[in-house]
Amino acid sequence: MTAPIPVPALPSGVDPAWLPPAAFRPLGSRRTLISGTGPLVDTVHGEVAGASDRFGGQVLRDGQEPGASYDLVLELGDDDSDELGDEGFALVRADGVTRVTAAGQRGLLYGLFHVVRLGEAAFQGERARELHRPALALRMLDHWDNVAVHPVMGQVERGYSGGSLFWQDGRARGSREELERVRCYGRLLAASGINAIAVNNVNVHGAEAHLLTDRIGEVAAIADALRPYGIRTHLSVSFAAPVVLGGLPTADPLDEAVRDWWAEVTGRVYEAIPDFGGYVVKADSEGQPGPFTYGRSHAEGANLLAAALAPHSGTVHWRAFVYNHRQDWRDRSTDRARAAYDHFAPLDGAFAPNAVLQVKHGPMDFQTREPVSPVIGAMPDTRLAVEIQATQEYTGQQRHVCWLGPMWSEALRFRPEGQEGPSVGDLVRGGGLVAVSSAGDDPYWTGHPLAQANLYAVGRLAWRPDADPRAALDEWIELTFAPEETADPARLRSGLHAVLDGSWRTYEKYTAPLGVGFMVQPGHHYGPSVDGYEYSPWGTYHFADRDGIGVDRSQATGTGFAGQYAKPWAEVYESPATCPDELLLFFHHVPYGHVLRSGETVIQHIYDTHFDGVAEVEEARRVWAGLADLVEPARHARAAERYEEQLRSAREWRDHINTYFFRKSGVPDARGRLIH
Ligand code: GCU
Repeated sequence: MTAPIPVPALPSGVDPAWLPPAAFRPLGSRRTLISGTGPLVDTVHGEVAGASDRFGGQVLRDGQEPGASYDLVLELGDDDSDELGDEGFALVRADGVTRVTAAGQRGLLYGLFHVVRLGEAAFQGERARELHRPALALRMLDHWDNVAVHPVMGQVERGYSGGSLFWQDGRARGSREELERVRCYGRLLAASGINAIAVNNVNVHGAEAHLLTDRIGEVAAIADALRPYGIRTHLSVSFAAPVVLGGLPTADPLDEAVRDWWAEVTGRVYEAIPDFGGYVVKADSEGQPGPFTYGRSHAEGANLLAAALAPHSGTVHWRAFVYNHRQDWRDRSTDRARAAYDHFAPLDGAFAPNAVLQVKHGPMDFQTREPVSPVIGAMPDTRLAVEIQATQEYTGQQRHVCWLGPMWSEALRFRPEGQEGPSVGDLVRGGGLVAVSSAGDDPYWTGHPLAQANLYAVGRLAWRPDADPRAALDEWIELTFAPEETADPARLRSGLHAVLDGSWRTYEKYTAPLGVGFMVQPGHHYGPSVDGYEYSPWGTYHFADRDGIGVDRSQATGTGFAGQYAKPWAEVYESPATCPDELLLFFHHVPYGHVLRSGETVIQHIYDTHFDGVAEVEEARRVWAGLADLVEPARHARAAERYEEQLRSAREWRDHINTYFFRKSGVPDARGRLIH
């Protein structure tokens, strides 16, 4: 009989996040049978054994005690394998027994965590057979972690949660405790449904390039720590690796020697990590090397790596974030929003079957509000993944509460061809959902304790892109805060919903208005600077003058970006009369007196939302303070401290934005409030 794999120990002081020991009480106090063999079954066994030790239950493996009775059966069986797939499971409760059946080991693991989520409810009454299967096969986190501290970006690019979980000062973290924490991280992620991780930044600098070859052993150690929780490891690689690491004169994707080099190196990667997931590539983007250097297309570039990975069943994730970042602001003919579509849509059908094109959810860059990228509706013959950003680069950097579930859900439920057509969630079935990770070595994993909700939601929405994000939030609240164990469960639940539910819209209200984006401080992207990016080479302009604001992306008079959408969206976005208010300035340049669909003028909307946004933060801070008796003190104090900063920053945003537009437009606030 195989031994259970013990539940990893959290370093002291690290928050268990959504897997507190108490969440295992209902399961741990009962009798469980585990049937099946394999390393992940041993992990499941370890989880139940750990819970049973703590809560007085009992766990047996198949055949240990014939004829005994159980409250819970977790079994591997191949009868329903077509229906269940490798990751699905069936749940049924009859005659006092809760039964989880999976055909694959990952499915059993997910079934276990589902029982944990259900808590006592998993053991009550009868339950007709339910089938649970992930809609997306790939549910991934990309870590933008650097091995060596980058002089500008630090250890983690756009990281707001301390250092990297994997790397420190040029080396892999390799102590027992550090690898144990990586395993805990894998456990947390598996409990939300994540099954893949890329362990280094898409911007591959000098030291990081070597992970592919002479430093692959360091990646293998991370992969070993994540494997027991069903998480496959991926690596970001440099397209120039054959030159930089292999000493070849070229990285041309059509060069034989280059192809051989990739094939050989990839073979060695798989010797070190037999279940390696594949490569992530940022090419010809923001200074990274790529196929354009050799006059080759991005399909040719991606297919080079796909060919090297194919014999090992690996996948290349090729990012569509390709645009001109050396633009002249005087040049009105270039539109960054158009770039991904212009580059990639003509290549539909040209990518290898194991190449996934990874597309940011919006056409620009993870702004607070963007339309869905038109690329997603335009490449039916390409495997697509949609990329979202859990790390809050443009949404408050984990100093502001900004629950992103509703934003991601809107993107995943968007239907590029209108109501009759498939949703984004449907269109990315072949490639999956990828989120830039927000986790680091911070004791709360995500810096702001309430930002954990976003990380949790990535996995849950990847499992079911059409799910109501509120359900994911409810789960996270129940698991993390255990309201039933507090003096006032109802007040705790409603307080948490009050501070989280509308927080994205609150953030939107006090920052850049009506979808215009990029009014942030250049470089680090925190705090307001209305013209910070206005005369820069990055292609991020709002064109505000004394008369109006916004970017004309119509087909009739603008950059033509609106025409990259299919109907009905091309028509909806084309006219200010039909464009949704929240995207108006993304698509149109309008006078300040333009009347929105809401009936308000643009300028008055700007004033109102900025005053309201700050008032909403004041209210959230008050509600949070009122939960002090129901939340663990350290967690409460950490968030309370961050609310002070959020409020300071929100006021700063309000005053910068309102003052800027008051001075530009000369239009006074209809309600006579103080604008400086
Ligand atoms: C943003 C971000 C960069 C990142 C880039 C990317 O521009 O600011 O730090 O490298 O996205 O997605 O590649």
